[in-house]
Amino acid sequence: MDEIYIRPLTLADIERLPEMELNFQAEAHLAVEKTVAGLNVTWRLVERPLVPPFISVDYNIDAQDQAEIRQRLAENDGLYLVAEHAGRLVALLDLEREHWRDTGQVWNIVVHRPYRRQGLGTRLMRRAIRWARHQRLRALALETQTNNLPACRFYQKLGFQLCGLDDHFYSNEDIDLNEVALFWYYEL
Ligand SMILES: CC(C)(COP(=O)(O)OP(=O)(O)OC[C@H]1O[C@@H](n2cnc3c(N)ncnc32)[C@H](O)[C@@H]1OP(=O)(O)O)[C@@H](O)C(=O)NCCC(=O)NCCS
Repeated sequence: MDEIYIRPLTLADIERLPEMELNFQAEAHLAVEKTVAGLNVTWRLVERPLVPPFISVDYNIDAQDQAEIRQRLAENDGLYLVAEHAGRLVALLDLEREHWRDTGQVWNIVVHRPYRRQGLGTRLMRRAIRWARHQRLRALALETQTNNLPACRFYQKLGFQLCGLDDHFYSNEDIDLNEVALFWYYEL
């Protein structure tokens, strides 16, 4: 059987990225409980089952995402990797160095659905951590959503810390819609 190998992303790969199936399913989510008393504001994350499970039906790398990846690749100030197996792309990691805060912003870490839970995401992220240490960055940063519990578990297992949330990131109803932005950091 062919090996899954990791190599630099090329310009020609970008239009093939939508071939990957990126949908995910979550049986539970992190519900956000917010209380406000003037400036005494607290947010509490509580893991709760989702009935029925949440299924992301439109998660893909669309034309806008491809344009942004193309631009970052052209700037070449980060780490851009794909995994390939038997001639098809099966994972992407796209990380941009943000000089102003000495941090690597991970814009995309995705694995084609049939290739998940085989350590591929971990292999990519370990490469990112090694690269960022070599660049003397202070942290890797990324954002995910409270309904993407599989990704939250993945980041937690890798040693990322959950450092904050923004309950108005996507809309004015993020808490009610069970989709709140979470911000994670990996200290280097
Ligand atoms: C998140 C994602 C990149 C993980 O990639 P992966 O290759 O499946 O991850 P790994 O196999 O390296 O998993 C490492 C560990 O993370 C945790 N983990 C990963 N997926 C998990 C899941 N669905 N449920 C629970 N834990 C999970 C486990 O602890 C796992 O170790 P184990 O398999 O020994 O139990 C992948 O699920 C994915 O592409 N999801 C869809 C796209 C996405 O949501 N990307 C993140 C956007 S913010």
